[in-house]
Amino acid sequence: MILRQIYQKNLKKYPQNQIEIKEIIKEVFDLNELQFWTRNTQSIKSDSSKYRKLLRMIQKVKIGVPLDYILGYKYFNGEKFLINKNVLIPREDTEILLNKVIDILKTNISFKVLEIGTGSGILPISILKSVKLTNPIEACDISKKALYLAKKNRKKHKISKEKLIFKQCDLFPKKNKDVYDLIFSNPPYISEDDYWSLDNKIINYEPRQALCGGKRGDEIIKRIIKESFHKLRIGGHLLIEIAYNQQYLINELKKIGFTHTKCHLDNNSIPRVISGIKK
Ligand SMILES: C[S@@+](CC[C@H](N)C(=O)[O-])C[C@H]1O[C@@H](n2cnc3c(N)ncnc32)[C@H](O)[C@@H]1O
Repeated sequence: MILRQIYQKNLKKYPQNQIEIKEIIKEVFDLNELQFWTRNTQSIKSDSSKYRKLLRMIQKVKIGVPLDYILGYKYFNGEKFLINKNVLIPREDTEILLNKVIDILKTNISFKVLEIGTGSGILPISILKSVKLTNPIEACDISKKALYLAKKNRKKHKISKEKLIFKQCDLFPKKNKDVYDLIFSNPPYISEDDYWSLDNKIINYEPRQALCGGKRGDEIIKRIIKESFHKLRIGGHLLIEIAYNQQYLINELKKIGFTHTKCHLDNNSIPRVISGIKK
Protein backbone atom coordinates (compact mmCIF):
# COMPACT_ATOMS: atom_id res chain seq x y z
CA MET A 1 0.00 0.00 0.00
CA ILE A 2 1.25 3.53 -0.68
CA LEU A 3 1.14 6.28 1.94
CA ARG A 4 -1.51 8.28 0.12
CA GLN A 5 -3.82 5.25 0.14
CA ILE A 6 -3.26 4.73 3.87
CA TYR A 7 -4.22 8.35 4.46
CA GLN A 8 -7.31 8.20 2.28
CA LYS A 9 -8.45 4.86 3.71
CA ASN A 10 -8.27 6.13 7.29
CA LEU A 11 -9.83 9.44 6.35
CA LYS A 12 -12.81 7.58 4.94
CA LYS A 13 -13.11 5.57 8.16
CA TYR A 14 -12.68 8.55 10.51
CA PRO A 15 -13.64 11.70 8.55
CA GLN A 16 -13.90 13.77 11.74
CA ASN A 17 -10.23 13.06 12.58
CA GLN A 18 -8.58 14.43 9.44
CA ILE A 19 -6.03 16.56 11.34
CA GLU A 20 -5.07 13.79 13.75
CA ILE A 21 -4.58 11.20 10.98
CA LYS A 22 -2.38 13.56 8.96
CA GLU A 23 -0.26 14.50 11.99
CA ILE A 24 0.17 10.87 13.01
CA ILE A 25 1.29 9.85 9.50
CA LYS A 26 3.75 12.78 9.48
CA GLU A 27 5.11 11.70 12.86
CA VAL A 28 5.44 7.98 12.11
CA PHE A 29 7.04 8.49 8.68
CA ASP A 30 9.05 11.54 9.74
CA LEU A 31 7.57 13.92 7.15
CA ASN A 32 7.09 17.67 7.29
CA GLU A 33 3.94 19.27 5.87
CA LEU A 34 5.38 19.67 2.36
CA GLN A 35 6.80 16.14 2.32
CA PHE A 36 3.43 14.80 3.45
CA TRP A 37 1.87 16.07 0.22
CA THR A 38 4.81 15.47 -2.13
CA ARG A 39 6.31 12.17 -0.88
CA ASN A 40 3.15 10.25 -0.33
CA THR A 41 3.76 7.62 -2.98
CA GLN A 42 6.27 5.63 -0.93
CA SER A 43 5.10 2.09 -0.40
CA ILE A 44 4.54 0.72 3.10
CA LYS A 45 4.40 -2.96 4.00
CA SER A 46 1.38 -3.82 6.12
CA ASP A 47 3.54 -5.98 8.41
CA SER A 48 6.16 -3.24 8.96
CA SER A 49 6.68 -1.90 12.48
CA LYS A 50 5.89 1.65 11.30
CA TYR A 51 2.56 0.60 9.87
CA ARG A 52 1.67 -1.25 13.07
CA LYS A 53 2.66 1.83 15.09
CA LEU A 54 0.45 3.98 12.86
CA LEU A 55 -2.53 1.70 13.46
CA ARG A 56 -1.96 1.73 17.23
CA MET A 57 -1.89 5.53 17.22
CA ILE A 58 -5.03 5.79 15.09
CA GLN A 59 -6.80 3.42 17.49
CA LYS A 60 -6.05 5.92 20.27
CA VAL A 61 -7.56 8.76 18.22
CA LYS A 62 -10.64 6.59 17.83
CA ILE A 63 -11.14 6.28 21.60
CA GLY A 64 -10.68 10.04 22.10
CA VAL A 65 -7.09 10.39 23.36
CA PRO A 66 -5.92 13.97 22.62
CA LEU A 67 -3.52 14.11 19.66
CA ASP A 68 -0.79 15.81 21.70
CA TYR A 69 -0.67 12.87 24.13
CA ILE A 70 -0.58 10.41 21.22
CA LEU A 71 2.32 12.26 19.61
CA GLY A 72 4.02 12.71 22.99
CA TYR A 73 5.04 16.29 22.40
CA LYS A 74 3.69 19.82 22.09
CA TYR A 75 5.22 23.04 20.84
CA PHE A 76 5.19 25.94 23.30
CA ASN A 77 6.68 29.34 22.51
CA GLY A 78 8.25 27.79 19.39
CA GLU A 79 10.02 24.95 21.27
CA LYS A 80 9.18 21.26 21.35
CA PHE A 81 8.38 19.78 24.78
CA LEU A 82 7.74 16.17 25.76
CA ILE A 83 4.32 15.62 27.28
CA ASN A 84 2.34 12.69 28.64
CA LYS A 85 -0.87 12.04 30.56
CA ASN A 86 0.75 13.16 33.85
CA VAL A 87 1.00 16.78 32.74
CA LEU A 88 -1.31 19.41 31.38
CA ILE A 89 -1.07 19.97 27.62
CA PRO A 90 0.63 23.39 27.35
CA ARG A 91 -1.77 26.14 26.24
CA GLU A 92 -0.82 29.06 24.01
CA ASP A 93 -2.54 31.44 26.47
CA THR A 94 0.22 30.71 28.98
CA GLU A 95 2.68 32.60 26.74
CA ILE A 96 1.18 35.78 28.24
CA LEU A 97 2.43 34.80 31.71
CA LEU A 98 5.75 33.68 30.19
CA ASN A 99 6.31 36.98 28.38
CA LYS A 100 5.43 39.07 31.45
CA VAL A 101 7.97 37.12 33.53
CA ILE A 102 10.64 37.36 30.81
CA ASP A 103 10.11 41.13 30.50
CA ILE A 104 10.83 41.57 34.21
CA LEU A 105 13.80 39.19 34.25
CA LYS A 106 15.49 40.75 31.22
CA THR A 107 16.29 43.81 33.31
CA ASN A 108 16.88 41.85 36.54
CA ILE A 109 19.07 38.90 35.61
CA SER A 110 20.18 38.23 39.19
CA PHE A 111 16.61 37.68 40.45
CA LYS A 112 15.93 34.60 42.54
CA VAL A 113 12.89 32.98 40.94
CA LEU A 114 10.36 30.39 42.12
CA GLU A 115 7.71 28.71 39.99
CA ILE A 116 4.74 26.93 41.56
CA GLY A 117 3.14 24.11 39.55
CA THR A 118 5.75 23.54 36.82
CA GLY A 119 4.07 20.50 35.16
CA SER A 120 6.21 19.60 32.14
CA GLY A 121 8.62 22.44 32.95
CA ILE A 122 7.74 24.54 29.89
CA LEU A 123 7.88 27.88 31.70
CA PRO A 124 11.24 27.79 33.50
CA ILE A 125 12.86 26.10 30.48
CA SER A 126 11.48 28.77 28.11
CA ILE A 127 12.66 31.50 30.49
CA LEU A 128 16.17 30.08 30.73
CA LYS A 129 16.35 29.86 26.94
CA SER A 130 15.48 33.59 26.69
CA VAL A 131 17.30 35.17 29.65
CA LYS A 132 20.78 34.49 31.02
CA LEU A 133 19.90 34.42 34.73
CA THR A 134 22.76 34.38 37.21
CA ASN A 135 20.74 32.47 39.86
CA PRO A 136 18.98 29.15 39.39
CA ILE A 137 15.20 28.92 39.00
CA GLU A 138 13.44 26.70 41.53
CA ALA A 139 10.34 25.02 40.10
CA CYS A 140 7.90 23.04 42.24
CA ASP A 141 5.11 20.60 41.63
CA ILE A 142 3.09 18.35 43.88
CA SER A 143 3.17 15.59 41.25
CA LYS A 144 6.21 13.33 41.23
CA LYS A 145 5.24 12.00 37.81
CA ALA A 146 5.04 15.51 36.35
CA LEU A 147 8.49 16.32 37.74
CA TYR A 148 9.90 13.14 36.20
CA LEU A 149 8.83 14.46 32.79
CA ALA A 150 9.98 18.01 33.58
CA LYS A 151 13.46 16.59 34.22
CA LYS A 152 13.38 14.87 30.82
CA ASN A 153 12.50 18.21 29.22
CA ARG A 154 15.31 19.91 31.14
CA LYS A 155 17.72 17.36 29.68
CA LYS A 156 16.21 17.62 26.18
CA HIS A 157 16.72 21.39 26.23
CA LYS A 158 20.27 21.04 27.58
CA ILE A 159 19.63 23.01 30.76
CA SER A 160 21.80 22.02 33.69
CA LYS A 161 20.49 20.77 37.05
CA GLU A 162 22.27 23.71 38.67
CA LYS A 163 20.32 26.25 36.58
CA LEU A 164 16.90 24.66 37.05
CA ILE A 165 16.10 22.92 40.32
CA PHE A 166 12.91 20.87 40.51
CA LYS A 167 11.29 20.20 43.88
CA GLN A 168 8.30 18.09 44.85
CA CYS A 169 6.17 19.94 47.40
CA ASP A 170 2.75 21.34 48.17
CA LEU A 171 3.06 24.84 46.64
CA PHE A 172 6.21 26.05 48.42
CA PRO A 173 9.46 24.20 49.20
CA LYS A 174 9.36 22.94 52.79
CA LYS A 175 11.76 24.00 55.52
CA ASN A 176 13.05 26.69 53.25
CA LYS A 177 13.69 30.14 54.63
CA ASP A 178 14.72 31.53 51.23
CA VAL A 179 13.13 34.71 49.99
CA TYR A 180 12.54 35.27 46.31
CA ASP A 181 12.59 38.27 43.99
CA LEU A 182 9.91 36.81 41.74
CA ILE A 183 7.32 34.09 42.17
CA PHE A 184 5.10 32.99 39.29
CA SER A 185 2.52 30.30 38.71
CA ASN A 186 0.04 28.88 36.26
CA PRO A 187 -1.88 27.02 38.99
CA PRO A 188 -4.99 24.85 38.77
CA TYR A 189 -7.82 27.41 38.80
CA ILE A 190 -10.98 25.76 37.43
CA SER A 191 -13.99 25.42 39.72
CA GLU A 192 -15.78 22.08 40.26
CA ASP A 193 -18.77 23.25 38.20
CA ASP A 194 -16.68 24.57 35.30
CA TYR A 195 -14.59 21.39 35.35
CA TRP A 196 -17.59 19.19 34.55
CA SER A 197 -18.53 21.42 31.61
CA LEU A 198 -15.11 21.01 29.97
CA ASP A 199 -14.63 18.98 26.80
CA ASN A 200 -14.64 15.20 27.43
CA LYS A 201 -11.13 14.93 26.01
CA ILE A 202 -9.92 17.17 28.85
CA ILE A 203 -11.93 15.48 31.60
CA ASN A 204 -10.97 11.98 30.49
CA TYR A 205 -7.29 12.50 29.78
CA GLU A 206 -5.73 15.61 31.36
CA PRO A 207 -4.76 15.38 35.06
CA ARG A 208 -7.52 16.76 37.23
CA GLN A 209 -4.90 17.93 39.73
CA ALA A 210 -3.51 20.27 37.07
CA LEU A 211 -6.90 21.82 36.35
CA CYS A 212 -9.11 21.94 39.45
CA GLY A 213 -8.28 24.65 41.94
CA GLY A 214 -10.85 23.59 44.54
CA LYS A 215 -14.63 23.85 44.79
CA ARG A 216 -14.72 27.53 43.81
CA GLY A 217 -11.58 27.24 41.67
CA ASP A 218 -9.67 30.05 43.40
CA GLU A 219 -8.58 28.19 46.55
CA ILE A 220 -5.04 27.40 45.36
CA ILE A 221 -4.53 30.91 43.95
CA LYS A 222 -5.57 32.41 47.29
CA ARG A 223 -3.06 30.19 49.10
CA ILE A 224 -0.34 31.23 46.64
CA ILE A 225 -1.12 34.94 47.14
CA LYS A 226 -1.09 34.64 50.93
CA GLU A 227 2.02 32.49 51.26
CA SER A 228 3.97 34.32 48.53
CA PHE A 229 3.72 37.52 50.48
CA HIS A 230 5.93 35.98 53.17
CA LYS A 231 8.29 34.37 50.66
CA LEU A 232 8.98 37.52 48.64
CA ARG A 233 11.43 40.25 49.54
CA ILE A 234 10.08 43.79 49.69
CA GLY A 235 9.81 44.91 46.05
CA GLY A 236 9.47 41.27 44.90
CA HIS A 237 7.06 40.37 42.07
CA LEU A 238 4.17 37.91 42.01
CA LEU A 239 2.53 36.86 38.72
CA ILE A 240 -0.30 34.31 38.48
CA GLU A 241 -2.32 33.03 35.54
CA ILE A 242 -6.06 33.16 36.29
CA ALA A 243 -9.34 32.01 34.76
CA TYR A 244 -11.36 34.37 32.53
CA ASN A 245 -13.67 35.20 35.49
CA GLN A 246 -11.13 35.60 38.29
CA GLN A 247 -10.12 39.24 37.80
CA TYR A 248 -11.58 39.92 41.27
CA LEU A 249 -8.51 38.20 42.74
CA ILE A 250 -6.71 41.51 42.26
CA ASN A 251 -8.53 42.48 45.49
CA GLU A 252 -6.84 39.58 47.30
CA LEU A 253 -3.47 40.93 46.18
CA LYS A 254 -4.33 44.40 47.46
CA LYS A 255 -5.81 43.10 50.71
CA ILE A 256 -2.66 41.19 51.59
CA GLY A 257 -0.43 44.19 50.85
CA PHE A 258 0.68 44.00 47.22
CA THR A 259 1.01 47.27 45.29
CA HIS A 260 1.18 48.03 41.54
CA THR A 261 -1.50 45.36 41.10
CA LYS A 262 -2.53 44.71 37.51
CA CYS A 263 -4.72 42.40 35.50
CA HIS A 264 -3.19 41.58 32.13
CA LEU A 265 -5.61 40.83 29.29
CA ASP A 266 -5.07 38.73 26.19
CA ASN A 267 -5.69 39.92 22.60
CA ASN A 268 -9.40 39.22 23.06
CA SER A 269 -9.50 41.36 26.22
CA ILE A 270 -9.89 38.29 28.43
CA PRO A 271 -8.16 38.51 31.85
CA ARG A 272 -5.21 36.09 31.87
CA VAL A 273 -2.66 37.14 34.48
CA ILE A 274 -2.68 39.11 37.71
CA SER A 275 0.45 40.65 39.14
CA GLY A 276 1.63 42.73 42.06
CA ILE A 277 4.71 43.90 43.92
CA LYS A 278 5.29 43.31 47.64
CA LYS A 279 5.16 46.56 49.57
C1 LIG B 1 -2.21 24.34 35.18
S1 LIG B 1 -0.89 23.18 35.45
C2 LIG B 1 0.46 24.15 34.86
C3 LIG B 1 1.56 23.34 34.26
C4 LIG B 1 2.62 24.19 33.50
N1 LIG B 1 3.27 25.12 34.39
C5 LIG B 1 1.95 24.94 32.37
O1 LIG B 1 1.86 26.18 32.45
O2 LIG B 1 1.52 24.30 31.38
C6 LIG B 1 -0.78 23.26 37.20
C7 LIG B 1 0.31 22.40 37.82
O3 LIG B 1 0.25 22.62 39.26
C8 LIG B 1 0.47 21.39 39.91
N2 LIG B 1 -0.13 21.46 41.24
C9 LIG B 1 -1.42 21.29 41.61
N3 LIG B 1 -1.58 21.46 42.93
C10 LIG B 1 -0.35 21.75 43.42
C11 LIG B 1 0.14 22.03 44.75
N4 LIG B 1 -0.68 22.03 45.80
N5 LIG B 1 1.46 22.28 44.89
C12 LIG B 1 2.29 22.26 43.81
N6 LIG B 1 1.88 22.01 42.54
C13 LIG B 1 0.58 21.76 42.35
C14 LIG B 1 -0.14 20.34 39.00
O4 LIG B 1 0.41 19.07 39.26
C15 LIG B 1 0.18 20.92 37.62
O5 LIG B 1 1.37 20.38 37.12
